Amino acid sequence: MKVLVIGSGGREHALVWKIKQSPLVREVFCAPGNAGIALDGTCVDIAVDDLDGLIRFATETRIDLTVVGPELPLTLGIVDRFRERGLEVAGPLGELAKLEGSKAHTKSVLTHAGVATAAYEVFTEAAPAKEYVRRQARSGTHVVVKADGLAAGKGVVVCSSAEEAEAAIDDCLVKKVFGAAGATVVIEECLPGEEASFIVLTDGATVLPFPTSQDHKRLLDGDKGPNTGGMGAYSPAPVVTKDLEASVLTDVIHPTLETLLRMGPPYTGWLYAGLMIAGDTTNVLEFNVRMGDPETQPILMRLQSDLVPALVQLASGERLEVKLEWDPRPAVCVVMAAEGYPGTVAKGDVIHGLDAAARLADVKVFHAGTARRGSDIVTAGGRVLGVTALGADLPAAIARAYEAVSLITWRGAQHRTDIGRKALHSWER
Ligand code: AMP
Ligand code: GLY
Repeated sequence: MKVLVIGSGGREHALVWKIKQSPLVREVFCAPGNAGIALDGTCVDIAVDDLDGLIRFATETRIDLTVVGPELPLTLGIVDRFRERGLEVAGPLGELAKLEGSKAHTKSVLTHAGVATAAYEVFTEAAPAKEYVRRQARSGTHVVVKADGLAAGKGVVVCSSAEEAEAAIDDCLVKKVFGAAGATVVIEECLPGEEASFIVLTDGATVLPFPTSQDHKRLLDGDKGPNTGGMGAYSPAPVVTKDLEASVLTDVIHPTLETLLRMGPPYTGWLYAGLMIAGDTTNVLEFNVRMGDPETQPILMRLQSDLVPALVQLASGERLEVKLEWDPRPAVCVVMAAEGYPGTVAKGDVIHGLDAAARLADVKVFHAGTARRGSDIVTAGGRVLGVTALGADLPAAIARAYEAVSLITWRGAQHRTDIGRKALHSWER
């Protein structure tokens, strides 16, 4: 088989790395890919939103299976467009990808499905939105202001005061800094607790749960500093106990899939529920219609089975009938980012130590923002590498990942030093 993976981040490197290990696969292409992906597959310079270019390439190259990493092409309807041309692709149809593409839609699906989620209201005008925020503030409730559409991870503001919330409302509805994506805002109650990522693969009815994981969204140690795309992740996430996992399947995943099925065609592909867990209460913060980044890196390090048969079944509209085996050992991914991230970043710095890190056992360095310049690999984006390791237990996985990180250097490199620490207390219990 020839497989095409769409995307250029650490998640896509992990997908390419895993897919190329399949005995069913002869060749893996990635559009547009990065310098690390180019070592595991063949990169083609087509942007993720150039649907015409991707269709042309998949047709001419006779791609047998396409796997989509990021949300943008899914919300643009890449699955619909590929299927119209008879091209096999795993993922949800465009109208189902709205589950990530519109937060107001997500909230409405959650409400219809009876799934626990933060109390919310939807606004298109600033005055009633601010009035709502002030009312909430009077009753002591903090709010989160969310641009309805995709805003490159920048559209959500967890507000510590009514003034901050009003400024976020002005950004979306008055200054229109997110354009059409911010023309509607969802304002919801800020929930306390610990977050976890719960990812499944589904044909709309059968659900194949992946191991749980936890991202670290803030830039700095101790969950301080600005939000980022994710500074590291580990799997499994002990905050999701066996009982909780079972209840997320019965109370979140299945009701959501059944509600979507009543609205139209079945949801197929990865479904990622972003959970907020506080004691016995679990709320859904968001759905993503793809795998997480960086969660994919530790999750796929733990996957012992071939992933391709499941993806082929989904792409060809068959029932999902595979069993996946997972390494019981935990995995940890530490993201190394460029100077300036998550703001404007420095690019073109030469990365040293990749070979030494690759020689460590149970380590894989997944590339995100990297490019090749002559014989060097240089930085080319915000999140640069996802240094990922397995260990006999969580402390060992953390130690191994950081051992690899310590071997890799470039000018201005930054990373958190506490990835996985939050889980250690549960691990020791
Ligand atoms: P979202 O894209 O909706 O998941 O929001 C991005 C991040 O904002 C989440 O991962 C949380 O850290 C935070 N967040 C979103 N909604 C809430 C909420 N209702 N309460 C607390 N934090 C939230
Ligand atoms: N790691 C968060 C996300 O992929 O949305």
